This record gives sequence, structure tokens and C-alpha cells, in this order.
Amino acid sequence: MVDIKNVVVVGAGQMGHGIAQMSLLAGYNVTLVDINDDFVNKGWSKIDEGMKKLETKGSLPEGATAAGLMANCKKSSNLASAVKDADIMIEAVVEKMDVKKQVFKTAGDNAPANCILASNTSTMSITDIGKDSGRPDKCIGMHFFNPVPLMRLIEVIHSNNSSDDSVNKGIEFAETIPCLRGKRYVPKVLKDRPGFICNRVTAPAQIYQNYVFDKAAAEGLSWDQLDNDGLGGPMSMTVLADYVGIDVLYHGQMYYSQTLSPDFAPGKVITQMFNEGNLGAKTGQGFRDWTKGRPSPDKSAGKAKLYQLKYPLAIMLNEACRVLEEGIATSWKVIDDTLMAGMNMPGPMASNQKTYQRQVDVLEELVELTGKEYFKPCEMLKSGKWVEMK
Ligand code: NAI
Repeated sequence: MVDIKNVVVVGAGQMGHGIAQMSLLAGYNVTLVDINDDFVNKGWSKIDEGMKKLETKGSLPEGATAAGLMANCKKSSNLASAVKDADIMIEAVVEKMDVKKQVFKTAGDNAPANCILASNTSTMSITDIGKDSGRPDKCIGMHFFNPVPLMRLIEVIHSNNSSDDSVNKGIEFAETIPCLRGKRYVPKVLKDRPGFICNRVTAPAQIYQNYVFDKAAAEGLSWDQLDNDGLGGPMSMTVLADYVGIDVLYHGQMYYSQTLSPDFAPGKVITQMFNEGNLGAKTGQGFRDWTKGRPSPDKSAGKAKLYQLKYPLAIMLNEACRVLEEGIATSWKVIDDTLMAGMNMPGPMASNQKTYQRQVDVLEELVELTGKEYFKPCEMLKSGKWVEMK
């Protein structure tokens, strides 16, 4: 068992309460921290509710009770004192660099010297977040997926300054965190690059989606028609975008446009909705009207014949090859397993071992179609060297 007893989770929201609950189930003492008692109490009650449900189903660890486990969950709205005897801090506060940096500075100033400081950021640089902590070698990324109890993936990220010891300790710890649906998968992310592995591989498909949204709007096609083109998943394209949140898409695309390529810049349709505050499910209006529950596209509207699944599949293979090219991972199998654990979808690499040359052609066709240079097939893909990197 890893040498960790006391876990401090900062941010008691959607991710923080899930991380805290799973850490309690693993047998750790947990302190849940937020900016005021109200937020802490809300997070604590959600954990309590989750524990009671597991108890009713008989799913708690042998001999454990919900009340017993919750007795190990302290509450605090004072980070400086909460980290006094912490072995690891996991930060899950809002996705804002200055807020995260301040949390790392306060924790760095007050936690014991050997305490690891981990961030659950989904996009930002761990190197930057940990810069002012006074212990950049102890700062790592620990990226959980939503919902934490059910999604198997935890990416552990090596920043430019993390020591190998800190990363290995983070991995050992993450592997002890239970998952209610199968065994945790904890890949080591070797470089601190935008989107890490899972989000990075899928991110550029958004460039193609923006192209499709904007073209459909320009041609006067309806969202129903576009949705009828089919996305290959349980939710249609515009419903999924609304569900994720137009603001989340917008901010993510802005971030990738500044860090990876200007081609990621939000398209006209997304920008307009963002500016008008039509953010999707959370505001009741996005592409769709959500005021009467989850909308279902009108199947009788016919197809737009715009969106083609072959493109995102080729895009993901190309991006997975870039992940290898940049040394973020060194094995295509790790990338495939990461996608399966984080998104419940098969990664692009096992299925393209022999047919990748065809994807090179598809990507070149896509550059021609959209004018987006980012879709150019990378050297790693074209050379086929990635096939050897098992
Ligand atoms: P959330 O909005 O549900 O929760 C954030 C919490 O942080 C709020 O309770 C807020 O009061 C608290 N907070 C803000 N400033 C604080 C401070 N200085 N000290 C202590 N608490 C503070 O957000 P969510 O969705 O839980 O996201 C948290 C982090 O996890 C973000 O970095 C996000 O990018 C990342 N993440 C989110 C995923 C998602 O699907 N929601 C998936 C993976 C990562």
C-alpha cells in the first residue's frame, strides 16, 4: 500500500465530491475543502448520499458502513489548515489558472514537505499551475473523468518539473482508488501537453464539427437534418454539444487554438451561441430547446449529407500518432486503452494497423475540403513507424 493516509480534496463540486468519495472507499482519511461552508456541506451531503446508496445495494467494502466511512470525511473552508497533515492534495477547483495557482501556493506554503500536490485540470499546464508552489518537483497532474465513480481512467501527468518519485507515487495512489465499473486504468502521461492523452486524441474532431456546423448554417440546413447524418454514438451531434455545454466547448477550443493550432478557434455558430449565453442543457437553450427535457431530433427531417464519420476516425488516428510523435506516450496500446477507459470507445490504433495508408488519403481529402492545415497527416502516421510502438 502506498505511503498515504491523509487526502485533501480542494473543490467540492462535480469532480471533487466524486474524488473524495472514492478516496474514502479506498480507506483514506479525507478532508473536503471549498471556499465556504455552504459549498463544503453540499459536496459532503452528495458523498453521504452516494455512500448510503452503496450501503443499500450491499456494495460497500466488507465490514464498512456509510456512517463509518463518512466519519473519515472532514470538512474545511480553510485550505492552509486543512493541508497541515496532508500526504496528498488533489485540486478540483474551477478551471481558472490564477485560482489553481493560488491553491497550489497556499498548499505549498502550508503542507508537510513530502506532500504531493495534484491537479485535476482537464486542459491546463501542470507546469504552470505548480510554478509558485515552492515544490514544483512534487506537483503532478491527476486527471479523473466524469463521473469519477464510474469512469475507469485516471491520467497521471509528468510536468516539466515533476520528479519521477512524485509521479510514481501518484500512480500508486491512483491505482488504489476503486471504480464501481471495472478496474482503474492509470496511464503515465510522459509530457505536459494540452489535453494530455484522452482529450487530445479527440479534440481535433471539434475542428471538423465546427466546419460542419458552420456549413449547415450557411446552407440553411436544419439541426435535425444534421443530426440525422449520425454521429455513431448514443447522442446526436447537436444534442451532445448542448449536453457538454457550449461554454465548455468554446473555452476548450480557445485554449487549444492558443496552444496547438489556430485551426481550433471556435466556429461562427459556437461563438454566436456562446456570446448570446445559449450554453445548452444548463441554460435551457443551445442548438436545441431543453426546457422540456432532453430533446430528440426529428427523424423525418431527412439527412443533411454533410457529416461523414470517416473523417473523425481518420482525425483521431492522426492525433494519436502526434501523441506518439511528441513523446506524450510511447505505446499505441496505451493510447487505445486510455480512450476505452476514459470515453468507453475503442481507440483508433489497433483497428488501423494495416489500413492506415487509406486514412492518410482521407486526411488529405479533408485538408482540401476544409482548408484546415491541422488535418495534414503527420510524419509518424505516414511512415507507419507507430505500428512498431506497441
Ligand atoms: P464545479 O464547478 O462542479 O466545482 C468546482 C468547485 O470548486 C466549486 O464548488 C467551487 O466553489 C470550488 N472552488 C472554486 N474556487 C475555489 C478555491 N479557491 N478553493 C476551494 N474551492 C474552490 O467544477 P468541476 O466540474 O468539478 O471541475 C473541477 C475541475 O475538474 C476543473 O479543473 C475541470 O476542468 C476538471 N474536470 C472536470 C470534468 C467534468 O466533466 N466536469 C472532467 C475532468 C476534469
